[in-house]
Amino acid sequence: MDNSLEEVKSILKKYNQEHILNRYEMLDERTQKKLIEQILSIDFELINSLYNDTKKSQVNDDKIEPMEYLDKYKLNDKYKYYENIGKQAIKNGKLAAVTMAGGQGTRLGHNGPKGTYDIGLDSHKSLFELLCDYLKSEGKKYGVTIPWFIMTSKENNEETLAFFEKNKYFGYQKDKNIFFFMQGELPMVDTEGKILIGEDGLIKLAADGHGGIYESLVKSGMVEKMKQLDIEWIFIGGVDNCLVKMVDPVLMGVAIDKQVTVACKSIVKANPHEKVGVFCKRNGKPGVIEYSEITDEMAEAVDSDGELLYGESHILCNLFNIEAVERMGKTPLPYHSAYKKAKFIDKNGDLVVPDSPNAYKFEAFLFDAFGEVDDMAILRVKREEEFAPVKNSDDAGVDCPSTARQLYENFYNLSK
Ligand code: UD1
Repeated sequence: MDNSLEEVKSILKKYNQEHILNRYEMLDERTQKKLIEQILSIDFELINSLYNDTKKSQVNDDKIEPMEYLDKYKLNDKYKYYENIGKQAIKNGKLAAVTMAGGQGTRLGHNGPKGTYDIGLDSHKSLFELLCDYLKSEGKKYGVTIPWFIMTSKENNEETLAFFEKNKYFGYQKDKNIFFFMQGELPMVDTEGKILIGEDGLIKLAADGHGGIYESLVKSGMVEKMKQLDIEWIFIGGVDNCLVKMVDPVLMGVAIDKQVTVACKSIVKANPHEKVGVFCKRNGKPGVIEYSEITDEMAEAVDSDGELLYGESHILCNLFNIEAVERMGKTPLPYHSAYKKAKFIDKNGDLVVPDSPNAYKFEAFLFDAFGEVDDMAILRVKREEEFAPVKNSDDAGVDCPSTARQLYENFYNLSK
């Protein structure tokens, strides 16, 4: 222990983060041990450079262009053709679904993993159960059980597992057709670049975005598991869209027929400033510009038909060939910083609860890996069939439980 403590002290000195041990002596032995482990596992070089990046002005001279897409409902004869190809692959058990459920329902005002949220349907089913109902009914259609992989974060892993256990995995079987794996985390830093300490005396870590999913799928052994199950295609979607269509034979047929390694669904952007990312070509490669990064000018630009030039919204419904996931797992993605409110323990040992943002969180986005592929297809689908996001609380009036509930009830004809 002493050796590690000495080693840790010299690391912290080097990176000007000695405050992390300020209250070390006051911690119990278990927490002390955990803190040392945390420090030894942190890439301080990376954190320093991420912090320094927050100070640089983000001049971006990427060449952005609109990206071509196929409209699912304008495929004419090709619709059946693609559908048949996809149906065969699904029947042959080639598809797995991955749900990214690392987020907490903070924006929603929900205290717990987002997937455990009840959007207020008569059935009071959680988002997880709604997604599982869908997978079960699709599986039945094709005579298979679609394996389901769920990505949690350190913050919500235990609670998520307990929730599934309590609900008997909604009829799925743990380690047979439902699997859990965890995403990574990075420390949060203040405006001076100092790593924050949380209420537990440990370094304050935050989920590092879903960009780490490829690496996590590989490192956790999930890709290996998929191979054992003979999976070739992986649909990756978010937990917060209760209409997410994870099993789409047309999307699969397009991917297989066009021999692309990634096929994504898009919907038409509701208005230029809707909070969704949009597909684009970035320096000639497929990409997504996030709503937080697009300029007003670009968001509002229209073509000669009056349609938004950047109007194909990314709805986190993306299908990958298993080989693409493995390849992407080896390529580090850039991190984006977000300025957030974060409670922390100050140098006097007092808890600070800020009422405005005070710290940086670093996240990688899964779609930044799209630049690694030359071959990607985009399929425009219908918003009312595939997109009912649950992001905000009802006060916001958009992308909230009441709007999602309405969309879900309309789609399944549950309206009273
Ligand atoms: C996201 C997309 C945006 C898209 C919109 C559609 C990102 C960065 N942007 O925006 O392009 O148009 O959804 O609804 O994703 N998640 C994790 N771990 C994390 C972070 C997120 O599992 O570390 C999961 C969440 O649980 C959720 C999904 O990823 O299922 C989306 O995350 P969120 O941060 O809410 O993204 P949005 O800002 O809504």
